[in-house]
Order: sequence, then structure tokens, then C-alpha cells
Amino acid sequence: MATSDSHPQTSPSPSTPDVCAVVVLAAGEGKRMRSAKSKLLHEISGHSMLSYAVNAAEDLNPRNLVVVVGNKREQVIAHLSEIAPYVSTAIQEEQRGTGHAVQCGLEAIDSLDGEVVVTYGDVPLLSGSTLVELVAEHRQQGNAVTVLTATIDDPTGYGRIVRNQDATVRAIVEHRDASAAERAIREINSGIYVFDSQVLRDGLGQLTTDNDQGELYLTDIISYANGLGRRVGAWMTEDSWQTEGVNDRVQLSLMNREMNRRILTRWMRAGVTIVDPGSTWIDADVDLGQDVIVWPGVYLHGATSIGDGAEIGPDTTLRDVEVGAGSSVIRSHATFAVIGADCRIGPFAHLRPGTVLADRNRIGSFVETKNLEMADGASIPHAAYVADASIDEGAQIQPGVVLVNDDGTNKLHTHIGAHAWVGANTTVVAPIEIGAGSVIADGTVIDHDVPAGSRALHPSDVHIDSQWVIQNRPSSAAAAAASQDCDKVHPKVAESRTRKQSMNPEEYK
Ligand code: UD1
Ligand code: CA
Repeated sequence: MATSDSHPQTSPSPSTPDVCAVVVLAAGEGKRMRSAKSKLLHEISGHSMLSYAVNAAEDLNPRNLVVVVGNKREQVIAHLSEIAPYVSTAIQEEQRGTGHAVQCGLEAIDSLDGEVVVTYGDVPLLSGSTLVELVAEHRQQGNAVTVLTATIDDPTGYGRIVRNQDATVRAIVEHRDASAAERAIREINSGIYVFDSQVLRDGLGQLTTDNDQGELYLTDIISYANGLGRRVGAWMTEDSWQTEGVNDRVQLSLMNREMNRRILTRWMRAGVTIVDPGSTWIDADVDLGQDVIVWPGVYLHGATSIGDGAEIGPDTTLRDVEVGAGSSVIRSHATFAVIGADCRIGPFAHLRPGTVLADRNRIGSFVETKNLEMADGASIPHAAYVADASIDEGAQIQPGVVLVNDDGTNKLHTHIGAHAWVGANTTVVAPIEIGAGSVIADGTVIDHDVPAGSRALHPSDVHIDSQWVIQNRPSSAAAAAASQDCDKVHPKVAESRTRKQSMNPEEYK
């Protein structure tokens, strides 16, 4: 039996049964989603529903993996080519039933022998390990067909499993075709099966549309196999979530919540403190270190990873962010960013793409960063906009600093040298080089480079007192850095400057 905490992204690597094919049915209309987007592309814990079906199928090491597509198939095919380009697709032009869908799927397979496994594209909690168990049971019993079943409280709408005295399966009867006695059966057909490929192929050839929906029912293969005197078995999972499909957005949200619960449970068992699982959402691919603490209201998306002992939240959203060990991120929002070890971020920081911090950096409240590289120990503790910049070690950016990184056409670079001090309300009109150890007085508009060790002062004209730091603070780290760094221009500043010079001055105005 599958454990209640496994899910497709984390199922242990199983033995490899090596089946002929997995056929994933995904041609249905998904009408109840009321969506312009294919149902199969709707996401659960950061992945499309279809990607879970493909991942689970892969655990069987199939020689053929075929997705049967129909409705909105351009979307489905495009998505498959991104997530699993090796998967083949078979087109079911018209949805004439599950039996017909499998017929279409088999057309994509060259040599049929061994087992064919059928699954659905909209059953995201089905795990690869459950499929492996299903195939093992099929082989052990020498079955022609083995059906994955579950016993549920309300079986309305599902096909019912009708068993013989010896517990083999006599038939699957669809709800709408079932008698009152059959409707009382609570063991349902998940729609997931292992078939002997010959029985399947021959049986599909015999299907009729003699049922309430006038469709070709895959479930009729069971009676066909029984007629041949072949054994049909059922393998019941206690984890009925693994058999549940998503038909509308209410089910989507229930499934999402259950998947999230399983992910959180796994992380808590692995040594992560999650203070409020009810308000914490962690995508399937997120990675968390030991003794991480996740406070309420946290959303961790995509390929986010959090180092040992870091604290995230409350009220923080991170997408594709790497956080180093021992750092804290409080009430903040970050995307495509790297935060090193022992950093203090927030509250209310916004780290936009390309923000790459080192260790021991401080980004305080109401700071927005983008395309910023910051070296060890540099800090922006209060309200500031710092973009397209590189900041060397130990530099301090005071409140209200704005890097004017945009002339309307180009993004322009600022370099701030080691141990420089950029005073409050400084406006830096990039491209600019602020030399190591220099001091920018509060309220200055910097539109000239500031050589290392200078002090720049406003109002009046910017007064640059070169050698000021070296003369007045001779034994400081700033003076030491300044004397190493006099008159150097950072390559990114030089690059921005060259680009600006080559522009038509009229355009530039
Ligand atoms: C089917 C089973 C039923 C089972 C239930 C589990 C049959 C006849 N009935 O019922 O016993 O309890 O699944 O959910 O098989 N599909 C296609 N092409 C088609 C028809 C369906 O690709 O022509 C796909 C759908 O996209 C879906 C899956 O097959 O992923 C199941 O189709 P659906 O219409 O939901 O099956 P049910 O009639 O609910
Ligand atoms: Ca269904």
C-alpha cells in the first residue's frame, strides 16, 4: 500500500518493472474547469497536473510513454515538449470513450508485448510507487487485467467493482448503467489498470457502444478477459486521494491542499519547523535544510532552497530564491534572487530578479533591489532603490538612496567601492563609479565619478575633496581600500559610459 505521505515528486526511487507502455488518457474536454487553459496545465504545488502523471509513469520505466490528447491539444503538446520532450502523443480526434482513447494510444506503439498500463492525466496524487506495486501484483497473480481500486464514502459517478466469490473481478459497471444493488458497492474503479497487451488489443477490437453513453468503455475489457477464462484482479489502495481526479476548481483546490499537506508533513519529518501548516504553501521542488523555521503566511515556490537554520516569514513569498544557512527573511518578497549565509532581509524588502547577495548582508525595510551584486558585509538597512549595481564589501547605503539606473532607453550601471559610505537621500545618476572608501554626504546628487577616498558634498557644486579619507582617516579600512583603488573605473561603469557616449546626444536628452 502507498503510504499516506508519499507524492509523485518524492516517491522513493522504486525498482524498475520495465513495462511495454504507459498510456496516459488526456483527451477529455475538462468542461467543468470553465477555463481557456487545458485542465491538464492547471497547477498543483508548482507543477501541472499532467507533469505528475508523466512522472509517475516514468517510475515504471516504460518502453513507450504515450499521452492521448484531444481537446486543447496544442496547449498540451506544447507543454509536454517543455516538460517531457521524449513523451509521444497520440491524437484522439473525437472523444468516443476511454476504450477508444486507449485504441488511439496503442497506435503510437510499434511492438506490443508485455504489459500496458493505463492512467489519467488529471489524477495528480497517484504516485509512481503505487503503479510499481500495481504491476508487481499483476505479475504475481498472473492476471490478464489488474485494476487499481479504492473504497470511498460517496461512490456516485464512479464505475463499481463487482467481485466474484474468490475476490477476482467479474465486471466494472458504470454508475449510470448500474442496478441499485451495484450502486451500493463502495469499491470504485480508479481508471488505472495494468493489462496484458494482447488481451487489451484483442478486447478493444470487440468493444461495442451498447451502454447509456453510447461510448466505447475500456471497462468492458474486464468482461472480455473473464470470457477468455483469464484472471482479472483488483489492487485496492487505502490512500484514496491517489485515485481521485480533478474535474473542477473546487476539486483542484482540495487536491492542492492535500498535496501541500503531504509536502509539509515530509519537511516536518525531515527536521523543519512549520509553525502554521494551514497558512504555509511549499511547492514540490522546494528544498529545505535542517532546523529551518517557517513562520505563518509563507509561500515558497519553484526551485527555492533554504539553508540550514534559516528563518522565513512571517508573510514572505519567495520564488526561485536561494537562501543561505542562518539567514532570516521577514515579511518580504523575492524572485530569482540569491541570499547568502547569515543575511538579514526585511521586514518589507523587495528583491527582484538578479539580486545576488553574499554573506552577512543586510537589506532592511522598504528597500527594492534588482540586478544587484553585493559583496560580503555590505548593507542597505533602510528605504532605498538599488538597481543595476555592484556594491563591494563593507559599503553602507543609507536611507533614501536612489540609483537612477535608467535614462529612458538604457539600464546604466553603478559601482560602489569597498567600505564606501553613501549618505541619506543621495541620488546617483548612473553610470557612476564611487571609489572605495569614499564618503558621500547626505542629500548629494552624484553625477560625476567619485574617486576612491574622496568626500563628495552637496549643495552648491559637488565638492570632491580627493585624498580626504586618506588624510583625515589615515588608519581606517576606508583609507586602506582607497589607497589601493585610486582612479580605478569599474568595468561595468566603463561599459555603461561607452554605451552612453556612442548615443546620439539628441536622443539622450
Ligand atoms: C471512467 C471509468 C470509470 C471510473 C472513472 C474514474 C470508463 C468507461 N469509466 O469514468 O469506471 O470510475 O473513469 O475516474 O472508463 N478520456 C479520453 N478520451 C475519451 C474519454 C475519456 O481521453 O474519449 C480521458 C479523460 O480525459 C479523463 C479519463 O479519460 O482523463 C476519464 O474520462 P472520464 O470521462 O472522466 O471517465 P468517466 O466516465 O468519469
Ligand atoms: Ca472523471
